[in-house]
Amino acid sequence: MIDNLRNIFATALKQAFGDDIIPVEPLVVPATNPKFGDYQCNVALPLAKQLKEKPRAIAQQIIDKIDIKDWGNPLEIAGPGFINITIKSEYIAKQIGEVYQDENLGVSKINNPQKIIIDFSSPNIAKEMHVGHLRSTIIGDTIARILEFRGHDVLRLNHVGDWGTQFGMLIAFLRLEKPEVLTTANAVDIGDLVTLYKQAKLKFDQDKEFKETARQEVVKLQNKDPESIKAWQLLCEQSRKEFQVIYELLNIQINERGESFYNPFLPDIIKDLEDADLLVKDDGAKCVFLDNFVNKKGEPLPLIVQKSDGGYNYATTDLACLKYRIQQDKATTIIYVTDAGQANHFTQVFQVAKKANFIPENVKLVHVPFGLVLAEDGKKIKTRSGETIRLKDLLDEAVNRAKKDLENRLETEARNEDENFIHQVSQIVGLSAVKYADLSQNRTTDYKFSFNKMLALQGNTAPYLLYAYVRVQGVSRKGNINLENLNINQGIILKEDSELVLAKHILQLDYIIKEVEKDLLPNRLCLYLFELSQKFNQFYDQCPILQAEEEVKLSRLILADLTAKVIKLGLSLLGISVLERM
Ligand code: ARG
Repeated sequence: MIDNLRNIFATALKQAFGDDIIPVEPLVVPATNPKFGDYQCNVALPLAKQLKEKPRAIAQQIIDKIDIKDWGNPLEIAGPGFINITIKSEYIAKQIGEVYQDENLGVSKINNPQKIIIDFSSPNIAKEMHVGHLRSTIIGDTIARILEFRGHDVLRLNHVGDWGTQFGMLIAFLRLEKPEVLTTANAVDIGDLVTLYKQAKLKFDQDKEFKETARQEVVKLQNKDPESIKAWQLLCEQSRKEFQVIYELLNIQINERGESFYNPFLPDIIKDLEDADLLVKDDGAKCVFLDNFVNKKGEPLPLIVQKSDGGYNYATTDLACLKYRIQQDKATTIIYVTDAGQANHFTQVFQVAKKANFIPENVKLVHVPFGLVLAEDGKKIKTRSGETIRLKDLLDEAVNRAKKDLENRLETEARNEDENFIHQVSQIVGLSAVKYADLSQNRTTDYKFSFNKMLALQGNTAPYLLYAYVRVQGVSRKGNINLENLNINQGIILKEDSELVLAKHILQLDYIIKEVEKDLLPNRLCLYLFELSQKFNQFYDQCPILQAEEEVKLSRLILADLTAKVIKLGLSLLGISVLERM
């Protein structure tokens, strides 16, 4: 609809003012308020200067060139020169029928699919996966799902931090203190490993002799000494298992390709930079000077790609990784989902990669930053005793709280449900609440983590949406109606306001999905689904379904079922599955 309207208005604009008119994009947007109809064209105002005419007069000339009487009400000029567009309800009804029969619910597939890599989650070996990684995991997965749904060829990559001098230090320390960890699988829990890591760091900073041992261990690792590699692999194995627990709980599919994968390509990167005349030696380190990055004195800042001891950096690996993803994986879009704190890192890496000619014209690099997760008091999330919170504990707590809420509800409603039901519902409600709370925030801002808010049955929460879905299934159970066999041929009747409002909202799905594809802001889909559920609940309160006369009943059943289908699809794109009852 909106694409259609944009075409119609573009043509009208040219007919009215000639081919040279510079159009103002977007020509047509969904109306911000139903008072103004369904869509609006607000270009008359910004065109006033260009055309040296009054906006209302411009609007009138545009309108004169447009004929939408088959499906739209007469166009109206409002205020200083806005054009309001209202679609006829018969036309809406017809569209609803079409969307109902379309397996993608009216969302079209992309014409020119891209090969897209999404680099997300990416925790670090021998360290705890923290809430920042949780955000990256949840947001990255959703972006992947939406792009896949649109028809892109998506490769999900886990850029695990599995290499670096810290491994030399850790292995050296374990050799001294806990050698069994280096030879036997599962000899240590990740929590203990993190503690050992901290102890190793302490010793490294205080003990000169140990520092030297650690350094030698790094060299051994780099030279692929079999014993050292075995130890390193065991550490990776152990961490991987821990990460997998989280991925399974959250139903995340991702392919591991850690930093170490790019080790063989690092020397070539230095050579490339040298060949491109970008490399400068600074105090023994090899670096590339950056544009627009200066120190306090205003002097240009370098990006160090090889340290004076020959070691490489995080950025060097990212350069090698970029090249590999473009040349070997043939990616045309590469998306990185990390906390906003890494924005400079990516700007620098992208800049150097462009200077080195690694990035062809057609390749798009996108950093998708997100803010911090804070405790309700606005401070860093911690356990009561002040330690960093473990993700597994956080997710378990969400599920436990969901279970308590459910048990209370069952008691007040005097309902009897078996263990299985309670387990399944609390699992889905708890985990989707965590995901949804994250996704429903504009990712660029920090957000406060509140179990109470995310688990509430009211408000922009997962339980609220899940409940709207359950309501529809309840209607079908109560009326003994198989929603799969609704006869659409009779046509949809939209008479009541709340029916029309709901129907129009449903038809916005295609637009919203494409918007999220463009700006990679999943909160827009969340808001859409929340408003859909609200509009459905209003319809449900105002329009009897099962008691209505046959024709209207069928029409309302279809509208309700279509709402449920849209909620189910929308939630699935957020990585959330629905419940039939809750
Ligand atoms: N391991 C990094 C971290 O924990 C994130 C990696 C992001 N991806 C990348 N290609 N640099 O912060």
